[in-house]
Amino acid sequence: MLAARDRRRVIGFAIMEFYAIHAHLNLFAVQPGYQRQGIGRQLLEWLEASARTAGIFKVNLELRATNDGARLFYEKLGYRSAGRKAAYYDGREDAVRMSRDLTVSSTSPTEPPQ
Ligand SMILES: CC(C)(COP(=O)(O)OP(=O)(O)OC[C@H]1O[C@@H](n2cnc3c(N)ncnc32)[C@H](O)[C@@H]1OP(=O)(O)O)[C@@H](O)C(=O)NCCC(=O)NCCS
Repeated sequence: MLAARDRRRVIGFAIMEFYAIHAHLNLFAVQPGYQRQGIGRQLLEWLEASARTAGIFKVNLELRATNDGARLFYEKLGYRSAGRKAAYYDGREDAVRMSRDLTVSSTSPTEPPQ
């Protein structure tokens, strides 16, 4: 469990579960007024670094199929689609599964390194 905070309150958090050979991102959010400032990237990269330290090189997650913003965020950070789970949320909404190989750089091949 990882939290980001400003001077007064928590503005983002992430919960990742670590297994023997992979990790799973269970919950993840940044407060709406603080999004698109790099906070989500910092949280996720911190958890990915922890996974690598533990010898874990794969991260899995699910998100709502309609959540285009989060999907673009994960793609930017090197996650790739790994299938779909029908009616995963409340028996109604599909989930998209995404996965990242932590041995591969998150920078897309068409994008110059920063
Ligand atoms: C997904 C979420 C955690 C991302 O956090 P964030 O702090 O806004 O993300 P960052 O600022 O670190 O974004 C890093 C990059 O990801 C991409 N990105 C992030 N949000 C995006 C969006 N809504 N649309 C398109 N690209 C996006 C951008 O390339 C961004 O870099 P840029 O702002 O320099 O262009 C946040 O949008 C959120 O809390 N959403 C609601 C809850 C949610 O959907 N959680 C995930 C459920 S699985």
